[in-house]
Amino acid sequence: MNTEKERHFIHTYNRSVTFVKGEDVYLIDENGKRYLDMGAGIAVSALGYSCEEYRQALKEQIDKLIHVSNLYYTEPAVKAAGYLAEAVGLDRVFFTNSGAEAIEGALKLARKYAYNKNKQSKGEIIAMEHSFHGRTMGAVSVTGTAHYREPFEPLIGGVSFAKYNDLDSVKSLVTEDTCAIILETLQGEGGIYPASDEFIRGLRALCDEKEIALILDEIQCGMGRTGKLFAYEYYGIKPDILTCAKALGCGMPVGAFVASEKFAKAMVPGDHGTTYGGNPLAAAAVCKVFELYKEKDILGHVAKAAPYLLETLQSLQKRYPEFITDIRGKGLMLGMEVTVKNSDVVAKALENNLILIAAGSNVIRFVPPLVIEKGHIDECAGILDKIFAYFRENGK
Ligand SMILES: Cc1ncc(COP(=O)(O)O)c(C=O)c1O
Repeated sequence: MNTEKERHFIHTYNRSVTFVKGEDVYLIDENGKRYLDMGAGIAVSALGYSCEEYRQALKEQIDKLIHVSNLYYTEPAVKAAGYLAEAVGLDRVFFTNSGAEAIEGALKLARKYAYNKNKQSKGEIIAMEHSFHGRTMGAVSVTGTAHYREPFEPLIGGVSFAKYNDLDSVKSLVTEDTCAIILETLQGEGGIYPASDEFIRGLRALCDEKEIALILDEIQCGMGRTGKLFAYEYYGIKPDILTCAKALGCGMPVGAFVASEKFAKAMVPGDHGTTYGGNPLAAAAVCKVFELYKEKDILGHVAKAAPYLLETLQSLQKRYPEFITDIRGKGLMLGMEVTVKNSDVVAKALENNLILIAAGSNVIRFVPPLVIEKGHIDECAGILDKIFAYFRENGK
C-alpha cells in the first residue's frame, strides 16, 4: 500500500501498483514495467487492451451522445437490448451500471412476480453457500460468506443458504413462500466451482414444479468465459432470469438482468429504474462487444486457448504436487487450489510481472482476456514455475 496515494480513499482495497496503460494483454505501470494480465480486471477486459474497433466505437459515440435518461429511447440501447436478449435466449433486458445492481433488479423482479400472484407472499429466496453476488445490500444478503454479510446486518429478510451442487439441500429449504433460487452457474469468488449437470437440471425441474424463479448469475462466468456465450448452455436448460455484467461492456461499466416474458411482465413503470443504466455510451460498448465477438470468433478462440491453459496448469500441478492440489473450472475460468497462502502467490507473481487474482481461501483464479494466445500462457507458466521453484527451495 502507498500511504500517500491511499490517503483520500476509504480503505476497502489493499491496492499496490499504479497502472497507466494497457497494451494487448499487458498492463504497464507508472515506471514502465509490463505485467501479463491473467485477471482482466476481474473477468472484464475480454477483448484485451488494444482493440482498436472497440475504442473507435466508443470515441464515435462520445462525439454523438453520451447520456440521455431512460425516459427516452436511444439507438444504441435498443440495439444492445436486442443483441443481449437474443444472445441469452430470453425476452427482455434491463440495463444497470454494475453486476450488483443487476442482482438487485433480478431479486426485485422475482419478488414482484410472487407478489402479483399472492400479495401475502413472504418473497423468500434460496441462495448458495460460498456464493458471491456483489456488495450492495440485496446482493450481500444473498452472498454465502458470513464475513461479507454480518457487519451489515440486518440485511434483506427471507434468505436461506443451501449447499451448492446438493439438490436435496435446496429442496429442504423450499417453502410455499420461496420466490427465487439464485446461484452462479460457475462459482467464481468462492473458489471456482462449476455446477454439476444434475444440480442445474434438478433446480430447473424444481423451479418449474413450484413456479419459482431460477436466477442464474453469469456476471463473471458469462460472455464467453467458459467457452459458451453463457455457461447455462452447457446444461440444456434456460434460467428465468439471468444476470450479466463485467465482459458485457469489456470495460465500460454496464450490467443487465434479462428475463423471460412471463417474469419480465411482472414489472411495470415505477417498479424499477436507473439514471445511467444502459445510457448511449454504455450501450454502444455492449453493441460493439457483441459485434466483435462474432467478427473475431471469440468463442472459437476460447475453444483453442482454454484446453491449452488447462493442460499447462495441470503440468505445473504434476511438477509441484506439494503446492498445487487441484485445477478446476471451465474454459478460461480456471482455479488452481494451492497449499500455500494464495495471497503469497499473487504477491510473488506481481513482483514477477504477472497479474493473478485470488479466489476463496486457497485458490488462484485464472480469468485472462479471452484473446489470450498460447505464447502468453507459456509466459504465465514460466513465471509460476519460477515462483513454485522458489517456494520449494526456500522451504515454503
Ligand atoms: C458472480 C458475480 N456476481 C456479482 C458480482 C458483482 O458485480 P459488480 O462488482 O460489478 O457489482 C460479481 C463481481 O465480482 C460476481 O463475480
